[in-house]
Amino acid sequence: MASVSLKNVKKTYRSGLEEVVAVENINLDIMDGELLVLLGPSGCGKSTTMRMIAGLEKITAGDIHINKRRVNDLNPSRRNIAMAFETYALYTHMTAAENLGFCLRARKVPKAEIDAKVSKIAKMLQLESILDKRPSELSGGHQQRLSLGRALIRNPDVFLLDEPLSHLDAKLRVQIRAEIRWLHNKLNTTMVYVTHDQIEALALADRIAIMNFGNLQQVGTPAEVFDRPANRYVATFLGEPAMNIVPGVLSTNQGTCSVNIIGKDVNLSPAKDLTSLFTAKAPDSTLSIGIRPQDITLMTGSETSADQQPLISGIVKVVEFIGEKYILTTRVKDEEIVSIHDSINGLREGDKAVLQFDKRKLHFFEDNDTGNAIRWE
Ligand SMILES: Nc1ncnc2c1ncn2[C@@H]1O[C@H](COP(=O)(O)OP(=O)(O)OP(=O)(O)O)[C@@H](O)[C@H]1O
Ligand SMILES: [Mg+2]
Repeated sequence: MASVSLKNVKKTYRSGLEEVVAVENINLDIMDGELLVLLGPSGCGKSTTMRMIAGLEKITAGDIHINKRRVNDLNPSRRNIAMAFETYALYTHMTAAENLGFCLRARKVPKAEIDAKVSKIAKMLQLESILDKRPSELSGGHQQRLSLGRALIRNPDVFLLDEPLSHLDAKLRVQIRAEIRWLHNKLNTTMVYVTHDQIEALALADRIAIMNFGNLQQVGTPAEVFDRPANRYVATFLGEPAMNIVPGVLSTNQGTCSVNIIGKDVNLSPAKDLTSLFTAKAPDSTLSIGIRPQDITLMTGSETSADQQPLISGIVKVVEFIGEKYILTTRVKDEEIVSIHDSINGLREGDKAVLQFDKRKLHFFEDNDTGNAIRWE
């Protein structure tokens, strides 16, 4: 087991005359035994970061330590890491079983032990029926699981898994995701797992490190990054459907603090500590307000707002039934609000909908490019 630490790590590539910054400046401490998920959109530098930890890519600046040892110049084979990357890199002349057992054979592990481990991993990854086939005879999904199996069969200090489930169908992906989580709980080996799938990240991680444009945006437990996103980017990247972001205008009037959200004045005063929000901001300044679709209730006609929660009405633009729930897109003035509900009382497109949102669960962000969160609790 091992900790992994990245200090001011940077990676630039030269592309013709241009310099491409793949990773701008990353500081990250991955704890011993932790399952850390690197999450971010395509091109944000996830694979580059992984490849630098693995030693497959030289770092431009900064330091990487594995178990407190500086590994900047250490060969990948001497870092005791097991990798499964999106490109499978399987041994084409070997069967699937031989691929799985290769590193154990190289270490002269007794054959009976190898066979037992191979069959256990093959069972977990549902590869039993293809064990005597060669990689060229396998589907992309089988090859990917084989590559993952070849990493998991080892007993390394650190697992580095870069989108190891991306070529699997949705059902299998969910199943194997749970297996990886279970396996990690059992082994407690440090694991760095890359994905651009936020649900996968939330489901798997002990902590999530969210990246964008070669920089870390926030690092925290799934609950921390979901409930207290550091900025608008993190807020809207996590959660399905995505958090609604609407403009709001602050106003203060003789000690009462309110914010105008799509034309509706919402009094925020009962909340404990608004002083920081309102001393930092002049009245009439604009904010970005975040409302999660799950924090919106659909009111039936006769109801009025209990405990003075704000109501907003609009016209339903789209109704989507997704099995157990309904997703509503409601047009409110110039904005569209997405909400999710267990039932919608027969509401249809074109009908009027009255939405109530929980003002204790509103998120506030700076109305600028960085969109940093403004805390008000
Ligand atoms: N060998 C290379 N030469 C030049 N630019 C590169 C090279 N490898 C990566 N890049 C650039 O660095 C940036 C980060 O790439 P990286 O592969 O790390 O992204 P990623 O987050 O893994 O994306 P994805 O989710 O698509 O796999 C991209 O802009 C990419 O074009
Ligand atoms: Mg990648």
